[in-house]
Amino acid sequence: MGSSSLSLSRIVSACSLALLVRDFVAAIVTTTTTTTTTSRRPRTFLVTGSTDGIGRHTCRRLASDGHMLLVHGRRDPSDPVVETLVRDLEDRGASRVAYLRADLGDLEQVRNLAEDAVAQLRSWQLPPEDDRSMPALDCLINNAGVFDPTPRRSAQGFDATMAVNVLAPFVLTRALLPCLIRGSDARIVTTSSVSQSRTLPDLDSLFARRFDGERRNDDGTNDQYHDFEPLPYSAHSSYAHSKLGDLLFTVQLSRLLSSYRPPEDDLLRTTSASLLLENLRRIQCLTMDPGTVNTKMLLAGWGPCGIPVGEANNTYILATSDEYAFGARAAKSGSYHFGWGMSDYARDDARLVDFWNKLSDCTGVSYDDLSRDCF
Ligand SMILES: NC(=O)c1ccc[n+]([C@@H]2O[C@H](COP(=O)([O-])OP(=O)(O)OC[C@H]3O[C@@H](n4cnc5c(N)ncnc54)[C@H](OP(=O)(O)O)[C@@H]3O)[C@@H](O)[C@H]2O)c1
Repeated sequence: MGSSSLSLSRIVSACSLALLVRDFVAAIVTTTTTTTTTSRRPRTFLVTGSTDGIGRHTCRRLASDGHMLLVHGRRDPSDPVVETLVRDLEDRGASRVAYLRADLGDLEQVRNLAEDAVAQLRSWQLPPEDDRSMPALDCLINNAGVFDPTPRRSAQGFDATMAVNVLAPFVLTRALLPCLIRGSDARIVTTSSVSQSRTLPDLDSLFARRFDGERRNDDGTNDQYHDFEPLPYSAHSSYAHSKLGDLLFTVQLSRLLSSYRPPEDDLLRTTSASLLLENLRRIQCLTMDPGTVNTKMLLAGWGPCGIPVGEANNTYILATSDEYAFGARAAKSGSYHFGWGMSDYARDDARLVDFWNKLSDCTGVSYDDLSRDCF
């Protein structure tokens, strides 16, 4: 008891110090960015995890700027939370709002989410008879995330935290690239965390597929079973690995996009294909710590040691400010912001490639074939 209350008090004082430093940095960031935000004209955003916490706050700020919003959650559209959200965003001034539903713990639903997003954007931007042209998306914010104290498996058998926080953004981002290259000043903002792990376990174990279930015994009782021995589970380590995963995803994504070369040279013979290729290379990929914020996730895992949700502006700033546009001095594509420095793994070429290949193997999604549907 004594040692646990001692370590608790250490955690609390570390948290307080962190907040002091964070407030100082946030004050500087806010001062330097509020004067130069972009987006005087409506832009199009897709924000995952818009139904609560930082995602909802970000959507509120985007709505007040008059943007067009695709908001996402796992709740039914008739859920009062969703109805209130959409009404609230319209009341705040969003040009358009549409709600898209998908449980990100199921990769099939993630694919459907991308299709629904394209269909919604098309209905906003193109004539009804045009069901083939690709619409534009200016910014994808991969915000949705989960910290789950209970071990769970995703629909495809992965650790659910890794699936929602890392595999889903990997699949969704790839599926929306054809729209993002048609956007203007396009950005992909993926939420990491100061909690990003400083260690990276063996990737085969991290992404091992397992199926939990219950086995009925002869005496009528039920036993839990796992078709493989489960890893020693820690909700915090799973979360921390997933946030490291978001960082590695962003760094490698920016490298691939900025240097992408289509396999077929003749693609570049048309001006529009050349322009789209140039747009692809200029997509700004950013990641960050959104702040230590008193959302239900923080309360579940760490307690109320954060700032109020209404002050959590990092995500909004990264997605909208000129300071973070492609080519800005302060923000190279692939960079991490607002946290206390990024893991060394993000500078390790071999690890980045291994991690990326693992994501590709697990999801069956490739970024090598962009000319198939992008140009
Ligand atoms: N809060 C912090 O201090 C903190 C610090 C560092 C990083 N972050 C990151 O910030 C992001 C936002 O977190 P938050 O603190 O705002 O948490 P939050 O309040 O719990 O909101 C998370 C959002 O993601 C949605 N979501 C969760 N699991 C989902 C699933 N399986 N399918 C679809 N949607 C799902 C939630 O939907 P429901 O409304 O249905 O639950 C909610 O809209 C996360 O990526 C988190 O890792 C947060």
